[in-house]
Amino acid sequence: MPIFKVITEYTELRGKRILLRLDLNVPLEEGEVRDAYRIEQSLATIDFLRKEGARVVIMSHIGKGKPEDTLLPVAKYLNKKFPVTFLDQPMSTENVRMVGRMEDGDVVLLENLRHEKGEEANDPEFARAIAALGDIYVNDAFAVSHRAHASVVGIPLLLPSYAGILFAEEVRRLSVALAPKHPFLFIVGGAKISTKMPLLKKFLETADYVFVGGALANNFFKVAGHEIGKSVYDETELKGLKELLDHERLIIPSDVIVKNEGGSEPRRLDSVTKSDMSVDIGPESVRNMEAVIGSAALIVWNGPLGYYEAGFTNGTREFFLLITNAQATSIVGGGDTVALINEMHLLDRFSFVSTGGGAMLDFLQNETLPGIEALLHK
Ligand code: 3PG
Repeated sequence: MPIFKVITEYTELRGKRILLRLDLNVPLEEGEVRDAYRIEQSLATIDFLRKEGARVVIMSHIGKGKPEDTLLPVAKYLNKKFPVTFLDQPMSTENVRMVGRMEDGDVVLLENLRHEKGEEANDPEFARAIAALGDIYVNDAFAVSHRAHASVVGIPLLLPSYAGILFAEEVRRLSVALAPKHPFLFIVGGAKISTKMPLLKKFLETADYVFVGGALANNFFKVAGHEIGKSVYDETELKGLKELLDHERLIIPSDVIVKNEGGSEPRRLDSVTKSDMSVDIGPESVRNMEAVIGSAALIVWNGPLGYYEAGFTNGTREFFLLITNAQATSIVGGGDTVALINEMHLLDRFSFVSTGGGAMLDFLQNETLPGIEALLHK
């Protein structure tokens, strides 16, 4: 496990200006926070810093940085917990003045960092301007630490740098999958096979079973010669999948739920027609996994098993129930998957629910992240 300093080791925080990078990129609905998991998980470090009498300058991104992507709803959410001053630009002379006036224990939140081009470009000028607002940098934004952006890798080069409580916990808990207990089951869903291929290959070596669901599975159905109708797949990746298809540790669904003009219904793979689109794993696939899930010592899962955005969540929900009733250490991540766990009030029933989506996958693949490396620098 990478060794970095954690902010709780620091003993004289009173009066120090802490630049705290959080990932407050949460789903919003009508100007309100729809799923607060990432915010709630960030509170431990904020509370610690406030109690220690630090002056906390929170910075985060939300969305892709369009002008309308604002952290204001997050500021309102946080304000119900403790007083937060929202600064409506990420960088301004007013921000410098406001931070200069902060008192011990005060908290400010800067507007979406991605409103400034320098953030994603990791512009050194931008990093210097933001770094001037703090004495110490803390990264508690594990979920964006796969991005080499200014607030993740640029600022830590300029200030004494520490990991936050959540960040350290994410690294500690996810590291379990790098030296796994067996039987180890890795479950991967969602889309974008190209980004998940390296990890699939890696876990086919180290896991005992790799279950592939979601739109990812369509690629395997296609390579196996099944009709997949209107289901989405990635033509460019098919060649590489052929050799994985017969891997003894690979499990692909044996049936699917299809959507067509008549509605939606379960189908065995060999009865999918040209007008069908597969949108979830089928009931037989769930039943077939009962024994594997029941006997696993470790289960690691990223990405939903069905077309989440269109409401096809049954397969994912069934897997949740099987896993939470099993004995295995269970580690789950990915924005959509976590939102569903939260909605089903199952957060406490998993051993660890990661705030990371892409960051979780990259960490499992590379065993480090740009944001971790940046903390090891000092
Ligand atoms: C996430 O939601 O995975 C992180 O906040 C990173 O967001 P991004 O994919 O827009 O960089």
